[in-house]
Amino acid sequence: MTEVKRLLYEGKAKQVFETQHTDEVIIHFKDTATAFNGKKSEDLMDKGIINNAISNILFHRLEKQGIKTHLVKILNDREVIAQKIDIIPLEVVVRNIVAGSLAKRTGLKEGENIDGGILEFYYKDDDLGDPLLNKDHIELLTLATKSEVAVLEGLAHQINQYLIDLFKSIGLILVDFKLEFGRYKDQIILGDEISPDTCRLWDSSTKRIMDKDRFRKDLGDVTTSYREILDRLKQLEA
Ligand code: TMP
Ligand code: ASP
Repeated sequence: MTEVKRLLYEGKAKQVFETQHTDEVIIHFKDTATAFNGKKSEDLMDKGIINNAISNILFHRLEKQGIKTHLVKILNDREVIAQKIDIIPLEVVVRNIVAGSLAKRTGLKEGENIDGGILEFYYKDDDLGDPLLNKDHIELLTLATKSEVAVLEGLAHQINQYLIDLFKSIGLILVDFKLEFGRYKDQIILGDEISPDTCRLWDSSTKRIMDKDRFRKDLGDVTTSYREILDRLKQLEA
């Protein structure tokens, strides 16, 4: 079967291609790592392969929990077929421990526990630098309806509860992470990826940073740490 592969969209870490089916796309995971709205960029060998594998394991497991994801089929080590969803231009961030921009914005100490977790919404808009939005802003900009926001909140908390426990079982602390959702027919579906590019994960016993902060902060061993996360997840699958 010959795939028609017209590029529909290219992001910082992924490409999206059309397929013969109008309601499906191919998502290709690139090796490019970026930070600070693309100001820092580097190719890290096999990062795309590792993130594709990690995200697929997590999406499969979330599906088993009743969370609808865009994942249709794994094509190869860098590509999946996904439902073509109408992406809601919001980054839904869940935080269990103070880190990153929350520490900077509030002065709270990095590493402090956040009981029950908190949610934040950011506007997916590179030109604006992905600003933090509240629910009134989301309504004002007509990015999502009130009831859609309620669904996003429920799903984000549900995913958080599941992922906290999953990562805990492989010796990792889920500090925070980012989700993206889209509309498909009349449903809200989890899209994008969940990987060390989009999560903060610390080793439970050593507190070693295992995620993209290694790249942001020039800590080295980025893909080695990503691979370690994949290996621990694979042991669970075995
Ligand atoms: P932050 O502390 O920089 O706001 O990041 C919160 C979480 O969201 C962290 O796990 C990294 C993730 N994230 C992304 O996936 N994409 C982004 O563009 C940003 C800024 C954060
Ligand atoms: N992904 C974003 C970027 O490239 C930011 C980040 O993850 O730090 O710039």
